[in-house]
This record gives sequence, C-alpha cells and structure tokens, in this order.
Amino acid sequence: MMSKTNLEPLRREVPFLDLASPHRELEEELTEVFRLALRTASFVGGKVLERFEADFASYCGTNHCRGVGSGTDGLRFALMAAGICPGDIAVTVPNTFIATTEAITQAGATADFVDVLEASGNMDPEKLREYLETRCYFDKSGRLTHRQKGRPVTAVVPVHLYGQPAEMDPILDLAEKYGLKVIEDACQAHGAEYFSRRQNRWKRIGSLGAAAAFSFYPGKNLGACGEAGAVTTNDGALSAKVGMIRDHGQVRKYHHDMEGYNGRLDAIQAGILSVKLKHLSEWNRIRRERAALYNELLGKAPGVIAPGVGPGMRPVWHLYVIRTQRRDELQKHLGDHGVVTGLHYPVPLHLQKSYRPMNVGAGSYPVAEAAARCILSLPMGPALTSSQVEYVCELIVRFMSGRGGQ
Ligand SMILES: Cc1ncc(COP(=O)(O)O)c(C=O)c1O
Repeated sequence: MMSKTNLEPLRREVPFLDLASPHRELEEELTEVFRLALRTASFVGGKVLERFEADFASYCGTNHCRGVGSGTDGLRFALMAAGICPGDIAVTVPNTFIATTEAITQAGATADFVDVLEASGNMDPEKLREYLETRCYFDKSGRLTHRQKGRPVTAVVPVHLYGQPAEMDPILDLAEKYGLKVIEDACQAHGAEYFSRRQNRWKRIGSLGAAAAFSFYPGKNLGACGEAGAVTTNDGALSAKVGMIRDHGQVRKYHHDMEGYNGRLDAIQAGILSVKLKHLSEWNRIRRERAALYNELLGKAPGVIAPGVGPGMRPVWHLYVIRTQRRDELQKHLGDHGVVTGLHYPVPLHLQKSYRPMNVGAGSYPVAEAAARCILSLPMGPALTSSQVEYVCELIVRFMSGRGGQ
C-alpha cells in the first residue's frame, strides 16, 4: 500500500479499460491476419472462420459454435433457432444491457422480467419460480401460458452479468419442469465456469443451456477489432439453423429455406479472435488476480460492498462492480483523481423510455432498482496493474473513511 498521506503528488491516470496495450503485444500476429485475408481474398466464411468456430466450441466445451455479426445477432438467432416464435414471452432480468431484450423483441417475442439476487445481480431463481408458479398456467394443450397476457411463455434468458455465472442449476431445473428453452446471455462471460450439480462437474459458461450467445465487442474479455459474436450449442440442428439464419436463410448458395439475416462473422474478425483466444485464459487469470486484490483492499473501506461470488462460481470479472450508498460522490471523487469508472447499468430496462409501453412502474423489481442507484464499476482489464488497483483502493478507503483530501 502507498505510504504517503497526501494523494495529490501520487496522482495517476487510471483508464476504465486499457484496450491498446494488449493489442500492442499482438500487433505482428494480428497484422498477419489482415495480410492473409488480402492475399487469399478470403473475407467472408472459409477456413479461418471454421477454425475459430472449432476452437471456440472446444474452449466452451460445446459441440458447435457459429460465428455471427454481434452478440445481439447471436441472441436473436439463438432464440429463433430454438423455436421461440412471434407472440411468445421470454423471461429475463431488468438489469442488463438493452441488447438482451432487443434480441427477444426482434425475434418477435416479448420480454418479461424477474428480479435479481442482491449479491451478484444475476437472476433470482426463486423469483423465476414464483413467476412460473403464480403468473403462468398450463393450458388445455399443455402449453405454458401467461395468465394475464394470454401468451405462451417459452424461454428464459439468464444473463451472466459482469462475467459471473447465473445460478444455472435451479434455472435449468425450472426450465425442465416448465418446458422452457434456456438461452444463456454469455456476452460478458467468456471463460467463466460454473459447478453443475446436475452433472457433478465444472462447466464453462456457454455450454449449459440450449444455446448461448457471446459478444466479441472490442471491450469484452475476448474482443474482436470491430463487431463480432457467436452462438455455442450442443444441439446440431439448432447450430445448423443458426448457420442458415445468419446467412439469409440459405442452405446452399441462392437456395433459401427461409428469410434470414446478413449476420455472418467475417473472416478477418475470426482470424483476430483466433489469435486472441490463445491469450484469454491468461487475461482472465490477471482479471481474477486484480479482483482478489480489490476484494482484499476494499475490506477496509467502510460502506463499500465488494461483489459477492457464490459457491460453485468462477467468474471472469468482465466488470468489477462495487456497491455503495455514496456512489455519485465516490464516482466524482475518483474522477477528480484520475480514475475512470462506469455504471452498468444506471437505469433498469423496465424504467427506460423505450419500454414505457410495457407499463411496468418503479418498485416492480426492487432489488434491480436499488442496485442501479448504488453500483459503481471500477477499472478492470488485463492491462490493469496491481499498483493501479492499490491507488484506486487507497482513494476509496480514504474517501469512505472521511479522509478524502488527505
Ligand atoms: C449482457 C449483454 N448482452 C448482449 C450484448 C450485445 O452484444 P453486442 O454488442 O456484441 O451486440 C452485450 C454487449 O455489450 C451485453 O453486455
């Protein structure tokens, strides 16, 4: 820990995420990907894409992976390929990035929410149980139906928020009981692991539900140099359907079984992802080390709650998010001292203007709403150093102990 009492002379700039440094180390290898694409004129599809898909499937422990244009595409295509139909309801959480619900809506379904666990911000399985038991019934044909909305409830979309696995065992048990498809939103959780009590072994996120969607947006734990995403699954038919949907519904060139999308992953991004995938475990290891240091040092900060990690979870710390009632003051204080922080997410989805027609008021999901008021994402990433973490924690401990200026 730093010994000086006045922090001003020690002032440092700590970015929220340093994206440039990891790329600098890989510049030669990444440039080679471009050269190869130019020389072979192979820009869409081909061997480079197939190799990445095989490698990422193997990394996640699934039989299949399909590269797509983005995480949003991945969620939408996975829902469609899993048979979620226009008019259906898919249940998710309100404290996620809007892409989760956009994908549900764009698949023709409607999103409905259940509240989350305070410690992790992930879907509360008890709330899901309550939703299914009290708001739904099986109609005469055995279809799970929402009592008020009169629509079939066919999917659940747990989000592995901040890189921490959702409570998948109870969610999968409920999905089995009620006949729901589970589509994991794994967009923030590349490499996170979950101890499956159902299978009595550790499993990688992305291999637990019917299918999972990953985002390779540049800032993610595994990021492309542009937009990119993937769907992982063990279901060969679902995978084939995603393959079709992402490519205009083609089964072969100019033979369309359905209307689809232009939602492919291009070969340059796939090549870049292959290079970076080799480093993902090491980058995640660094993130875990930095999170452990944050946890240790923030233990001395009164009024700060460090993120909780449940048993059977190995998170990958896409984001390191603390909670404090003095969030706004603390964020300003850190900003004044060169530390960039973020809010993920400041407004729960049911309170966004875009979802006003849902008519779901404040107070409907109290845990998610309370979290939105007190969460603060601290700097994180593979280029974050231990001494930067120490500096951030020193600022927080002093501020929260009433010694902010010293
Ligand atoms: C939880 C979550 N879901 C979905 C997405 C969408 O991914 P993309 O931006 O690649 O479309 C993101 C990306 O930020 C995300 O964080």
